[in-house]
Amino acid sequence: MLFLNLIGLDLKKADKLFVWHPYTQMEDWRKWNNRVIVRGDGFYLIDSEGNRYLDGCASMWCNVWGHSRKEIMNSVIRQVQRLQHSTLFGLGNQPATELAEMLLKVARKMDHVFYSDNGSAAIEVALKMALQYWRNKGNSKKKRFISLENAYHGDTVGAMSVGYVPNYFRPYKPMLRLSTRIRTPEPRTILPKCNGISHDYIEKIERAFSAYSSECCAFVMESGAQIAGGVNIYPTGFQKMIAKLCQKYDILLILDEVATGFGRLGNMVEYLAQGSIPDIVCFGKALTGGYSPLAATLCRSQIYSSFLSDYLESKHFRHGHTYTGHPLGCSAAIANLRLYKKQNLLSKIRKNSTYLRNRLKEIWESPVIGSVGHKGLLAAVQLEDKRGKKRIPIEKLNVYGKQVRSNYYLTQEALKRGVFIRGLGNTIVIIPPLAIDREDFGHLLDVIFELVGKVEAYHSNP
Ligand SMILES: Cc1ncc(COP(=O)(O)O)c(C=O)c1O
Repeated sequence: MLFLNLIGLDLKKADKLFVWHPYTQMEDWRKWNNRVIVRGDGFYLIDSEGNRYLDGCASMWCNVWGHSRKEIMNSVIRQVQRLQHSTLFGLGNQPATELAEMLLKVARKMDHVFYSDNGSAAIEVALKMALQYWRNKGNSKKKRFISLENAYHGDTVGAMSVGYVPNYFRPYKPMLRLSTRIRTPEPRTILPKCNGISHDYIEKIERAFSAYSSECCAFVMESGAQIAGGVNIYPTGFQKMIAKLCQKYDILLILDEVATGFGRLGNMVEYLAQGSIPDIVCFGKALTGGYSPLAATLCRSQIYSSFLSDYLESKHFRHGHTYTGHPLGCSAAIANLRLYKKQNLLSKIRKNSTYLRNRLKEIWESPVIGSVGHKGLLAAVQLEDKRGKKRIPIEKLNVYGKQVRSNYYLTQEALKRGVFIRGLGNTIVIIPPLAIDREDFGHLLDVIFELVGKVEAYHSNP
């Protein structure tokens, strides 16, 4: 069945002709069997030809309840009927006010909320807040940011500067304000078991803090785990150690919970679970469960109060977007957060997390799996040849009569099996909608494990 919309547009053809997709080599895209999604139904996406795909990557890690949750849809519909938009420049609006109160109850120790529309913007806000905080306090020397290698904080200029992933951002380097990056500790993996920060590493980190303390305004890091720049689940105690060093050397701590907050790692708010209270924290993605673009930067009163003064002293914060605190986004987030409580989502996430951990043991036996990391509803399965002493990365597979990248192969084969996944390089990232039911989750894992078996076969008979 070819899906033509009301003006008779062939969606697949039009997509190929007109739409430029993110992080995509469009030359490849034009040759592929592209899919255009027209509908959502529970945890499934339905394309213009009526095919159903289990949303195995939670629509870029933001989907919580699936695609047709009536409580959230009704909240947005009610809101659009009352007030579709009113600016936060010079006026308040009801959903933005109510959501701020709700967020501050959850994100304990934070006192104020600044809204934006996406995670990258939330990071820009945090960086600008930190820089101006010191300036407002009369210290103009503190201008440098420190961040971690392999961090990813989004695609805007400030976010790329602190989350500089060379493979992604090399062409934009001339426009970046490069920050000081320090090495990330070895990731915590469950298979093989690895968790620990060496004494050597702790000493090196402390030396960096000490060297930069007079000029560094803030340390920026993802909270709990790095994901997009290469999955790295932090060793126990690492984030707490950073928080302590920030205090000791008078450096602000900015935590990025855009991808890891609201349950992804098994905790509602990751910084509380890690015992590391930040000065500024960013949320996005799961905040609205995928029903509207919205992000938020929360800060402590000490930050906020440094911006209070006589207007002519010019200490107020200069940031805002047309859609800052958009009523529809805020109403979606309110309904979403209410559902977390009503459905006891955290308990479901933790049960599914145990299920995931047990099943991950199944694929560990495979000779093409080098390591497995897991926390909450995030798992990273590293495709590597683990035979012999040296691990040889599996860059390309000889399939379809040619050499193709393994993650391209996995995505295409999963789509054929009715599952949408999106890997990161040679890492298979398992990051389902947070409220996924056991049957769909089991199916997602079955397909991924079957495909790992195929990679294994191709690898042994190239
Ligand atoms: C940790 C982290 N921070 C920030 C962002 C940027 O969020 P957005 O894509 O909404 O701009 C992402 C996106 O993946 C992320 O993973």
